[in-house]
Amino acid sequence: MAFKVTLVSTSPIDGQKPGTSGLRKKVKVFKQPNYLENFVQATFNALTPEKVKGATLVVSGDGRYYSKDAVQIIIKMAAANGVRRVWVGKNTLMSTPAVSAVIRERSGADGSKATGAFILTASHNPGGPTEDFGIKYNMENGGPAPESITDKIYENTKTIKEYPIAEDLPNVDISALGVTSFEGPEGKFDVEVFDSADDYVKLMKSIFDFESIRKLLSSPKFTFCYDALHGVAGAYAHRIFVEELGAQESALLNCVPKEDFGGGHPDPNLTYAKELVARMGLGKSDTGGEPPEFGAAADGDADRNMILGKRFFVTPSDSVAIIAANAIEAIPYFSSGLKGVARSMPTSAALDVVAKSLNLKFFEVPTGWKFFGNLMDAGMCSVCGEESFGTGSDHIREKDGIWAVLAWMSILAHKNKDSIDGNTKLVTVEDIVRQHWATYGRHYYTRYDYENVDAGKAKELMEHLVKLQSSIPEVNKIVKGIRSDVANVSSADEFEYKDPVDGSISKHQGIRYLFEDGSRLVFRLSGTGSEGATIRLYIEQYEKDASKIGRESQEALSPLVDIALKLSKMEEFTGRSAPTVIT
Ligand code: G6P
Ligand code: ZN
Repeated sequence: MAFKVTLVSTSPIDGQKPGTSGLRKKVKVFKQPNYLENFVQATFNALTPEKVKGATLVVSGDGRYYSKDAVQIIIKMAAANGVRRVWVGKNTLMSTPAVSAVIRERSGADGSKATGAFILTASHNPGGPTEDFGIKYNMENGGPAPESITDKIYENTKTIKEYPIAEDLPNVDISALGVTSFEGPEGKFDVEVFDSADDYVKLMKSIFDFESIRKLLSSPKFTFCYDALHGVAGAYAHRIFVEELGAQESALLNCVPKEDFGGGHPDPNLTYAKELVARMGLGKSDTGGEPPEFGAAADGDADRNMILGKRFFVTPSDSVAIIAANAIEAIPYFSSGLKGVARSMPTSAALDVVAKSLNLKFFEVPTGWKFFGNLMDAGMCSVCGEESFGTGSDHIREKDGIWAVLAWMSILAHKNKDSIDGNTKLVTVEDIVRQHWATYGRHYYTRYDYENVDAGKAKELMEHLVKLQSSIPEVNKIVKGIRSDVANVSSADEFEYKDPVDGSISKHQGIRYLFEDGSRLVFRLSGTGSEGATIRLYIEQYEKDASKIGRESQEALSPLVDIALKLSKMEEFTGRSAPTVIT
């Protein structure tokens, strides 16, 4: 089939600056004439020509509302820009970690490799006609475009005048597997629709010992539940957990991907993963029956994870520390050692303690997975994680929700390897976490989110906090006036990061108040919201004393919460007497 290329004139549209993870806006914003087209062309123009002309591109995402239209538009623009082939997941579905794996691992029938991807997702934000859509570009290492590229994309959106498009290219049937070939002015153009679960499963099998996990799952002592929150993880869950590992069908909750995530908020935390939380015995109302031993959830694009034990929540900060502490013994991929570990700045220091004790290279980076990518490409980091329910490793360049679940299953299988067949009691998720605290100390941790706050007010609050930092004695006077039973603030700053690989500097990455006993208060503005501003407040306290590690975390942290709210004048600036979400 032959197609022609039309040059469409356009003009710049405001506000197309990519955030922490691409461009995220309401669907109605994306549906404005030329909105998506401008951003896609700005991206093509920001890439070197060989990443476009003759290249192979992946275009897919979490399948949220508007993905089907967006894929067709991007296919037509790719064709017109001289791209050689586009790889699309069946029904546009491909999890963010699977996209990363496909870029890095997949070869086409003729040996072709992808050099990049447009990922269509707004991650954990709700989907549907009145909700969010998003798009981001990933590079040939499988990771999100670095700031040098996203800055260029943004600059291009401010000057764009035209874009080429193959308007007469018929829509490709993305529900059917196979290759459709076209002939354009610059030669052949192919669209291949495939099921990325094959590539993803292959990769997971090269990392984990599926046989030992299968054995764990086959034991009547071990029960499991996985909630995909109707996100794209559902497209992999059946294949991996049921077919490959032998879990019961009934272990899968909300595993049918939906354009609107069933009307829910596809964010795996204690607030939004309601059904799982109830099933695990952590909800306000008990669902009856004995909760499973292990539960997990994913976000819309399946890069996030939440790990739960029976009536027990594992903080993401603890999760990455526990994975790092056990990886070498429990996960074949790491058996020869860890190259290093890393966490984002607001993530608790639980990982730091493990790194120190195991003598591992350690890095603290700004929020955003892309900062881990450079370290991994340079062979400096094997395992990393963030407080925002992201955990992963250097097997790809995105965080990986299903990987995290398999990592925990591997640890559980390892800890239970001698007892799984016998009469001994199962070593549970809670046992593993409590044992970890007993060895390394516990980092009490909580995050308060104030969503959709007036952007101007949020900025004022942050400026107020920066101004306060000029006098630590003054800060301590305020702190002591609020609570006399907390340690002194020893320093305060705005986090700045110099990338050890490329030397680039990222400023204004969050405001920190550091206490003498290792406690921390961190304030940051979210980079992923689509409306107004979201203020995040992260509160952490380190406890080494084994007799004090068993407290309820909100209670243990309440003095610091009190200080954080008053120091920042949270209510005064935002008008909010309580956060939108506590995790
Ligand atoms: C995305 C990124 C994460 C990051 C998170 C922060 O999910 O992939 O790496 O931690 O956004 O979001 P925030 O809303 O706090 O900027
Ligand atoms: Zn996500």
